[in-house]
Amino acid sequence: MKLRNTPSDYGLVARAFHWVTALAVFGLFGLGLWMTSLTYYDSWYRLGPWWHKGIGITLFVLIVARLVWRRFSPPPAPIESHKPYERIAAHLVHGLLYLLLFAVMLSGYLISTADGRPIPYFDLFEIAALPWAIKDQEDIAGTILLWLASSLVGVAILHALAAIKHHFVDRDRTLSRMLGRSQNH
Ligand code: HEM
Repeated sequence: MKLRNTPSDYGLVARAFHWVTALAVFGLFGLGLWMTSLTYYDSWYRLGPWWHKGIGITLFVLIVARLVWRRFSPPPAPIESHKPYERIAAHLVHGLLYLLLFAVMLSGYLISTADGRPIPYFDLFEIAALPWAIKDQEDIAGTILLWLASSLVGVAILHALAAIKHHFVDRDRTLSRMLGRSQNH
């Protein structure tokens, strides 16, 4: 089992980064939506944001580590049977997913620090707030976060559907190599 990517396959590290990110994004989206329905007297009213922020900050570190790793271990070459427009589309979508991930996390930071207070990371340490904030920052950043997060999940679902189409219709190795199946399968 290879840690690094090879010219034809994703290694264990890239695959682990990918699936942990996917799980965290869908989980945080569900948790975030659910949090908006909680009332002050609900026991998860405070616990929900505590987990949401902790997992969100962990995800930020993971994405940065993932991009650093990507520099040292570039992704495998596109699959031969992919048409040129599919290669370009995949490239653009992957770039968009990274961009949306960072934009969502930035807007989350701006919501949590709108009142000038730092963000606690699992009660271990705190992430400082900016020394300034704009008027209604929490509401503005909250609306932006909802739009960006919905776009992220929407694009990720389309991306997943494309992978499933490659697997079942085109019968190529696009999904298999992200699942770590060897070339012979
Ligand atoms: C929020 C969820 C997801 C995000 C943010 C995401 C993001 C990404 C990114 C950024 C890449 C490019 C990897 C790189 O070269 O750096 C990638 C590749 C890939 N993803 Fe996802 N992904 C998500 C969910 C899924 C799901 C649910 C599936 C399948 C059902 C999937 C299947 C794949 C496959 C097969 C590749 C490899 C594509 C190729 O080799 O061209 N992804 N994903």
